[in-house]
Amino acid sequence: MEMVRFGVSMSPKLLERFDESIAKKGYANRSEAIRDLIRESLVEMEWETGDEEVVGTITIIYSHTTRELADKLTDFQHQAHQVIISTLHVHLDEHNCLEVMVVRGKSNLIREISERLISTKGVKHGKLTMTSVGDKLA
Ligand code: NI
Repeated sequence: MEMVRFGVSMSPKLLERFDESIAKKGYANRSEAIRDLIRESLVEMEWETGDEEVVGTITIIYSHTTRELADKLTDFQHQAHQVIISTLHVHLDEHNCLEVMVVRGKSNLIREISERLISTKGVKHGKLTMTSVGDKLA
């Protein structure tokens, strides 16, 4: 891949803090850290536009012993089958289940599905991770 070099000016104090933070995260050099920051910002923009196709994961924790909850969640996943493309289920202990759903589609719709799942009564915790199909990230 062709690479372009460019210069960045900033205060020594800010650069020092940046170097410290990327060293903690394990970056070998500033270039890779800056590329990742730019990608992160591009992914955020993809999600903001609403009608771009994006990818993400929705993680939920719930108790399968809560009355009718497991059935309700499964029904909803069937309704949303065009967006929820895969589901991983882990039985955490006697009562608790963890589910990770891989979602792909328009970001507005994914947000809506995620909010509906997480706000379902009996879901103890939930999180949407927003990422990208990757083709625009180089
Ligand atoms: Ni389970």
